[in-house]
Parts: sequence; structure tokens; C-alpha cells
Amino acid sequence: LPHQNFLHCLSLRSNDSSSFSKLIFTPANSSYESVLESTIRNLRFNSTDTPKPLVIVTPTQISHFQATIYCSRKHGLQTRTRSGGHDYEGLSFVAHVPFVVIDLVNFRSVDVDVENRVAWVQTGAILGELYYRIAEKSKTLAFAGGVFHTIGVGGHISGGGFGLLFRKYGTAGDNVIDAQFIDVNGRILDRKSMGEDLFWAIRGGGGGSFGIVLAWKLSIVSVPAIVTEFTVSRTLEQKAIELVHRWQSIAHDFPDEMYPTVALRSINSTQDGRKTVVASFGSVFLGTIDELLPLMQDRFPELGLSRQDCNEMSWIESILSESGFSNQPLEILLNRTIRTPISTPYYKIKSDYVKEPISKTGLKGLFSRLTDEAAASTTIVFFAYGGIMDRIPEDATPFPHRAGNLYKIFYNTGWLEENKVNSETHLDWARGTYSYMAPFVSKSPREAYINYRDLDIGSNNLGYTSYEQASIWGRKYFKDNFERLAHVKTWIDQENFFNHEQSIPPLY
Ligand code: FDA
Repeated sequence: LPHQNFLHCLSLRSNDSSSFSKLIFTPANSSYESVLESTIRNLRFNSTDTPKPLVIVTPTQISHFQATIYCSRKHGLQTRTRSGGHDYEGLSFVAHVPFVVIDLVNFRSVDVDVENRVAWVQTGAILGELYYRIAEKSKTLAFAGGVFHTIGVGGHISGGGFGLLFRKYGTAGDNVIDAQFIDVNGRILDRKSMGEDLFWAIRGGGGGSFGIVLAWKLSIVSVPAIVTEFTVSRTLEQKAIELVHRWQSIAHDFPDEMYPTVALRSINSTQDGRKTVVASFGSVFLGTIDELLPLMQDRFPELGLSRQDCNEMSWIESILSESGFSNQPLEILLNRTIRTPISTPYYKIKSDYVKEPISKTGLKGLFSRLTDEAAASTTIVFFAYGGIMDRIPEDATPFPHRAGNLYKIFYNTGWLEENKVNSETHLDWARGTYSYMAPFVSKSPREAYINYRDLDIGSNNLGYTSYEQASIWGRKYFKDNFERLAHVKTWIDQENFFNHEQSIPPLY
């Protein structure tokens, strides 16, 4: 049995085999299932026919990573690295070949140096642990990462990572200043020893392609003591289409301190009970209500934002609030397994980038699709770009979606119960809506965000995949940066040990 040989190999390679063995789980261990399921977010990937790892290793030391990589290679097992487990296609814990999961749950120290405004974070940490440790020391410092706190810093920063501060400070990947990395040969590298090409690739080229990032050195940024959050919801009868139409051409020009979003979802009309659509306009603004109101009056008076729609809070409180935990204790940020109340148990994610405002007729068609029964638990969110994103060159990191984008679309097709007919209905809706949107969004390539992983846009073969084939999905995520990523891959992992359905292929 390959995994028996693998386990034997691990015991030979470790200098602390009795304590290491406690960090290794096979289906024979009573805690295997709870370890595996601990961070599975999307229950689509927790069914009886989801392939399961032969072994889960939860390293505490660098030598455990070295032994696991060595023994996996030797015994022909694939490894999947799992940080927060939020991959939208489950690639950190599902594979269709015999495989081992390296789960970073025990490798998650966070060391914040307020004076120098940097933090070293091991990649098993979740964003919440990082945010909490920063807030513990200062409420006017933060990190420019994603919103929901259980996201792992391993996968998130590897794929760029955007959140409340991205129009002011860029992606999470833009805020990495050094890293500790282990390659296929077990070598431990930092920025200096890995060189600028690999350091460039790991800050946005997607997780699971080059090796394992063990820790990031991150830049900590300033936020004001008071930020303001608002949401204003408007139905079709309240001119939602006209307002969204207007928002499209002004939101990307809002000041960098804004994080303008519009969420679209269906509701039952209070008048006749039929389905209609509500558009919720929101932002977290880095400033007070008194600063925000005149700005909105000047830029977007049609929305009619009033003082009652706004709430002042600290930046760290806005993180909780934006993910559905308003007024909860900050300690929730340390909870790795809690689910956001605003997510459905099953979902399919897709993304698009918009360069020209969509016509009112185009928006009408999208709104009308949202009133389908299959979209009852679906949310579509527009995130305005602009700000510093327009000023960072496309090749500064592998994340290429910079100047020229008005906004990004996040399609979250959700459902509450799983059975084959049900999931097919929702997946069909998601794919049909994506086709419907084709004329209105970026083209050649139709851009997509790697952290919103979507295997529908193309994937690798189980065996050899050519660079040309991988370019189909690769150029959508990375545009012209894809070629440089493939060069880095060829140099650091030519045998393609670290691979998955959308890993960067070597050039051979
Ligand atoms: P996970 O552990 O699943 O890893 C993702 C990929 O990276 C896998 O291929 C994995 O093997 C690899 N990987 C993990 N750790 C690695 C390491 N140390 N070294 C190398 N490779 C590694 N995104 C966003 O930008 N802004 C947001 O606000 C949100 N919000 C959000 C909310 C919720 C509820 C979900 C489920 C997801 C998001 N996302 C998001 C998307 C999120 O950024 C994306 O799924 C990240 O890849 C998740 O990182 P994890 O470490 O949690 O995932």
C-alpha cells in the first residue's frame, strides 16, 4: 500500500518520530474525519464521493515539511497544502490521484512588530489571527487582506487577496516584503536566496504551484481610528437599475478611502409576493460620517445616503461587521472553524471584470435572471476598482487586474440542500448567467480572479498538460504574466511535483 510505505518513510526521516506520529492522521485514526472536515467551507466537497486524502500531516516544524515532501515524492503521492481550506474548488484537500494533505493548522505563529510596521506570519494562520494580533497592539494599524476572517493567509496571499483596503493599499500580495519558502528539494529559501522571480511569482501566482510558502513578512498599514460603514438598499421600484447603472461609471473614481460595492439579490416583493431584486450599495469608508456625507452628496446624490444609514466603528470592528458578525467580541477572529452567517452551505463561484458600463438593458437581463427560482440563495456583488489599483503596473505582481477595470463581479450561486438534481439546477443557472454576461465583460481574455477559483474556465489534465492548453485558463487569471509564471515554475519545480487542476505548468 503506497501510504504504508509513505508512513514508514516518514518515521525513518524524522528525528522525533514519536511526537511526529501524533501529527499524522489516516482513516484508521478516530480524529481523521474531524481534522479533514475542520476547514471544509463548501459542503459540495464533503460528500461520500469526494476523494479523501490517504494521509493528513499537520507539521509543527520545518523538518516535518521536508520529510513529507521527500516521502511523497519517493512513493509517488501527490501533496496538497491546506492553509484555511477556502479554495472555491476544494483543491487544497481534494485530488483525483492518491494524495497527502499537508494541513498547516499547527504552523501559525503571528509576530507583529508595531514599531517597524511589519509582521511575520506563518501560513497556517487565518486572517482573523493576524488582524486580531495587530488590533491588540494598535487600533490604527491593519493589514490589507480579505474580509472573512477564517480565510488562510497561505492560499489568500498566494492568489493576490483583496479586501476593505485594496483601493488604498493594493492586494495582500502587494504588501508582502519577504517570505520563507520550501521547495521540492526541501530547501528553505527567503527573498534573497529565492531571487526576485520566484518572490514575484508567489505573491499572486496562485497557491500550490511552486512549493510551500511557510511564512510571509507583511507590511502593516495605517487606518484611521474611526471608519464608517453604510448600506443603502433599493428595489426595482426604487430605481435600482438606474442607480446601479450610474454607480458603474462613478464608483471607480471615488477616493481611495472608499470600498464601494453593490450586492444584488432577489427578495419576495412586499406588494404582490412575486420575486424582485434588491440592490444594496455599501462601503467601508476610512473616515467619519461627517466626512463621508458631503462626499456622497457630491459624487452620488441620487443614492440619497443619510446619517441613519451609516455606522461609525473601528477598522477591526468593520471586519467583523462586513462578514456578518457585527457587535460580536473580537475573539471571534481567533475562531478558525466558524462559518459566516452570510454564506450558504453549497455554492459555485465565478468572476468577471467590467471595463465599460453595462447598458440598462443588459442590467435588466441580469436582474431578471436573479428572479429565477434557482437563484433564490444567490448573491452577485460588484466591487469597484480604481484607487491605487490603477497606479500599480500589471506586471508588478502576477495579479494583472489593474488600470482599466471599472469593477469586478463576484457571482456566488448558493443553495441550501444538496442532491444531484438540485445541484445541477444551480450549476446550470451559474453557467447560464456567466454566458449571458459574456458581451458585457472583459474579452480576449475574459479575465477572472484566481482566488475565486473556477474550474469551468479550463483545467489541467491528470497527466501532462501543455503550456498552450494551460494558457486557456492561465491567461484569464494572469494575462501576460502567465508566461513568466511558467518560466519560474520550470526553474523551481521542473518535474511538476506541486501540481493540481490549475497549477502553473512547466515549459517542456
Ligand atoms: P486553501 O487552504 O484552500 O488554499 C488555496 C490554494 O492555495 C490551494 O491550492 C492550496 O493548496 C494553496 N496553498 C494553501 N496554503 C499554501 C501555502 N502555504 N503555500 C503554497 N500554497 C498554498 N478572497 C479575497 O481576495 N477577498 C475576500 O474577501 C474573500 N472572501 C472569501 C470569503 C469566503 C467565505 C471564502 C470561502 C473565500 C473568500 N475569498 C476571498 C477567496 C479566498 O481568498 C481564496 O479561496 C483563498 O485561496 C483561500 O485561501 P486559504 O488558505 O483559506 O485556502
